[in-house]
Parts: sequence; C-alpha cells; structure tokens
Amino acid sequence: MKKLIVANWKMHPDSAAEAVLLARQTEKGILKSKSDIVIAPPFPFLAFVKKVVKRAKLGAQDDFWESKGAMLKNSGVKYVIIGHSECRMLGETEEMINKKIKAALKAGLKPILCVGEHLETRKKGLAAAKNYVQKQLESDLREIVFNKKSLRKFALVIAYEPIWAISTNKDARPDKPEDAFEMIKFIKSLLAAKPYTLYPKVLYGGSITSQNAKSFLQYKEIDGALVGGASLKAEELKKIIAIANNASKAQSRI
Ligand code: PGA
Repeated sequence: MKKLIVANWKMHPDSAAEAVLLARQTEKGILKSKSDIVIAPPFPFLAFVKKVVKRAKLGAQDDFWESKGAMLKNSGVKYVIIGHSECRMLGETEEMINKKIKAALKAGLKPILCVGEHLETRKKGLAAAKNYVQKQLESDLREIVFNKKSLRKFALVIAYEPIWAISTNKDARPDKPEDAFEMIKFIKSLLAAKPYTLYPKVLYGGSITSQNAKSFLQYKEIDGALVGGASLKAEELKKIIAIANNASKAQSRI
C-alpha cells in the first residue's frame, strides 16, 4: 500500500511568499513519487499554496463543526488535521473533536485524527499508553458511521503522535520504532473491530526526520508519517518521501 506523508506546517512559515516558495521547492521532483503527499499550511496561506501544488494534496490545520465545512472543500482542501495535541492542550475537548470529525466527513474531507499519550502515561508503560489512546479513539469517533461509499476508499487517517515525542516539546525524542509499530498495530486492531473503518491509514508522528524515517516506515503497518518541523525544509521532506517510496516498494514485494 502507498505510504502517506503529511507535511504539518502548523503556524509556519511567516509569510505567503515564503509559503509559496516552500511549496514550490517541495513539489519540485516529487511529481512521480509513489507516495500520497499532503501539505497542510496555515489557513491564511491555503489559497496561495493551492496555486502552486500539483502533486501534493492540500490539508487544513483544523475545521469547525458548524455548517460552513464546505468552505474548505470548495477551497481545494482534501484533508483536515483534527485533535492535534497542541490544540487539545489549549482546551479542545473530545466532544469538540468528535463534532469536527463528523463535520469534515459530511463535507467530504478526510480527517487526520491525532491521538497520543502524555509522558506521565507513557512512563507507566506501553499498556497504559494503549489504554489512553483507546479511550481517546472511542470518544473522538463516537457515533461515527461510515457508509459503503466511503469504505471504498480510506476515509479516515489516524496519526499516532505520542505527545512527548513531538519536536516542539522540551526534551522531545522520537519513540522507539518497535513501540510505535506495536501501538499502531493495536490502533488498527481496535478499528478493525468496528463496523465503520475497514481501511484506516495509521501514521506515525513525532520528531520524524530523514535520519529516522526508515526505521518507522520499514513497517508495513505504519502507513506513513505526519511530519512537523522537518517538513519546513523542502529537501528534508523530499528525502522522507523518497524513503516512503522505497519502503512501500519493498513491502509490495513481500
Ligand atoms: P514534529 O511535529 O515532526 O516537529 O515532531 C509533528 C506534529 O506535531 O505533527
């Protein structure tokens, strides 16, 4: 299966001109890439970035649950990041996340739902982290039913991002690839047990760089990466995309 690489620009860069330049540089040389690629710029730059991307799909940093969801869709956005830990930390609740996912699906957008545990939880062990993530998923996806049409293509992306591994955190360090693999396998088993998501893609995020991408993407079960800091350097992101291309090629031979 193709890997999915999502460039999570968060609140960067500082100007539309820089955003256009970064998008152009990222696009250069990825036209024939075998991976799915998403660039998620900040809202003010969506329209500018839209004009220069051909290969990458456009992602939004967030959405809202009132009936204006079509605004993003009509602006060429295909994916929307929801429930990022940096928003949860500012007071976004699971109820709000649930409404945002429902609104995104209704508007024909693919939600990229971010889940992941705090360091205090992880210190208690992987089982405690799994428990935490399971509870998040149950609340975030409450009452969400996918119809047959949406099942034909994957309609949901989950990004497992242990909070302590995200580069903006003090002392951040990437998770051990084998632990990320274990957690992602667990997330997939939870979703497979539900009637609604036959083909969720589950990504890993948290300090992914070209140095460590292979150690995560080598696992068939890890469907791609949500890349923050490293996606702000076009050459770095392109190296990660090349690693994803090679990983899915190798996995399709197995
Ligand atoms: P990072 O960010 O790659 O800089 O750790 C990932 C994210 O927050 O989505």
